[in-house]
Amino acid sequence: MIDYNERIPNNVNLSENKVLQRALEQWQPSFLQWWKEMGPDDSGNFDVYLRTAISVDPSGWAHFDHVKMPDYRWGIFLTPSEADKKITFGDHKGEDVWQEVPGEYRSTLRRIIVTQGDTEPASVEQQRHLGLTAPSLYDLRNLFQVNVEEGRHLWAMVYLLHAYFGRDGREEGEALLERRSGDADNPRILTAFNEKTPDWLSFFMFTFMTDRDGKFQLASLAESAFEPLSRTCKFMLTEEAHHLFVGESGIARAIQRTCEVMNQLKTDDPARLRAAGVIDLPTLQKYVNFHFSVTSDLYGSEISSNAATYYTTGLKGRFEESKLSDDHKLDGDSYEVMDIAGDKIITQSVAALSTLNERLRDDWVADVQAGVDRWNRVPEKLGVPFRFKLPHKGFHRKIGLFADLCVSPDGQILAPAEWARRQTDWLPTAEDRLYVHSLMGRCVEPGKYANWIAAPARGINNQAADFEYVRFN
Ligand SMILES: [Fe+2]
Ligand SMILES: [Fe+2]
Repeated sequence: MIDYNERIPNNVNLSENKVLQRALEQWQPSFLQWWKEMGPDDSGNFDVYLRTAISVDPSGWAHFDHVKMPDYRWGIFLTPSEADKKITFGDHKGEDVWQEVPGEYRSTLRRIIVTQGDTEPASVEQQRHLGLTAPSLYDLRNLFQVNVEEGRHLWAMVYLLHAYFGRDGREEGEALLERRSGDADNPRILTAFNEKTPDWLSFFMFTFMTDRDGKFQLASLAESAFEPLSRTCKFMLTEEAHHLFVGESGIARAIQRTCEVMNQLKTDDPARLRAAGVIDLPTLQKYVNFHFSVTSDLYGSEISSNAATYYTTGLKGRFEESKLSDDHKLDGDSYEVMDIAGDKIITQSVAALSTLNERLRDDWVADVQAGVDRWNRVPEKLGVPFRFKLPHKGFHRKIGLFADLCVSPDGQILAPAEWARRQTDWLPTAEDRLYVHSLMGRCVEPGKYANWIAAPARGINNQAADFEYVRFN
């Protein structure tokens, strides 16, 4: 059970480890200061209908209430440990899981935790101005829920750093509050987390695509031989599911609204749809292309010796490792990856151990595709012939095999001049972005929605359509 009488709510018996408790209590005011400076704009006094974890049980862990965000009970929650748990993959397969960090893996594991931890506050920073242009109270509440939970994910990683990495860990905990998304001198670690999230369409695409990268990273860390990391990530995954829902349903509602107006006006002319204040489907497709390609880069190079090492040493498994039926060592196994032969993209078999980044990316792509298929039911149901399509994996990439190539959404390698001529058909142009920005007015009357987005099918925690999710005071 989670103890909310503690200054730092937790289910790890923090009060029994005074040194650790004191270190985290010293970090807490710095975190709150960071939230004040970099959390959602001017939101300190809002009462927000938030869910808070009351247990780590998969069934019924959430409690809903109006809370001021600075009073949100950020804490440390791990899923229960399993008795007699063994390592399920790599060279240590079959040995007991680790309760402490083996010395030889210390710096690698710390780097993995810091890199994951850095994305959590980064996304809060990226999203901090969105509250000013919320399309509804419902959406505003969802944004804030995502933000407080990303803050809690930072807590989760800082707990591991403090508890298992000594002074180095405490220093990393400080640095996590010092880097800033997009800062020229001290940026966040990963490129995608230094991009702007300038509007709600980008926010929904980000939570659909990029939080889903989070899901796959956390899922492979949940397989880790280092049990505290595994248990931490398992609980984070339960929170992540809501972030993915926010993104997927947000885009689905924008598609629905556009299709409704297309039917009313009996047109698919983007100019007429824009005049009617909705986002035409080709523009939505361009945002899909952009966020899909930028997020793809987060998985790193197709061939990676680091990824192989993480696996053989037991630090990071595959997605759903325990459910896969092979030897969980991958000696002699192969995996198909893309390669370039002249001006063609081909596939070839490569030693599976070296392709684990690509494999995780492929697992993510399949999950994204399933979401896109669900989106496509919206136009299908409304009799609109348009269907969304993911671009080729090589499209608009900055990292790995395709980094120096120009690849069209259907997988043709293009000359740079042709790419330059056609890319405005495939990626949002400055004009597209300006149009989308122009729609972002603030709509916060209970039960009302901005013109470009449909109301959700049901309220959060089954609340009524006009429920006051946020009170501004
Ligand atoms: Fe997160
Ligand atoms: Fe998330």
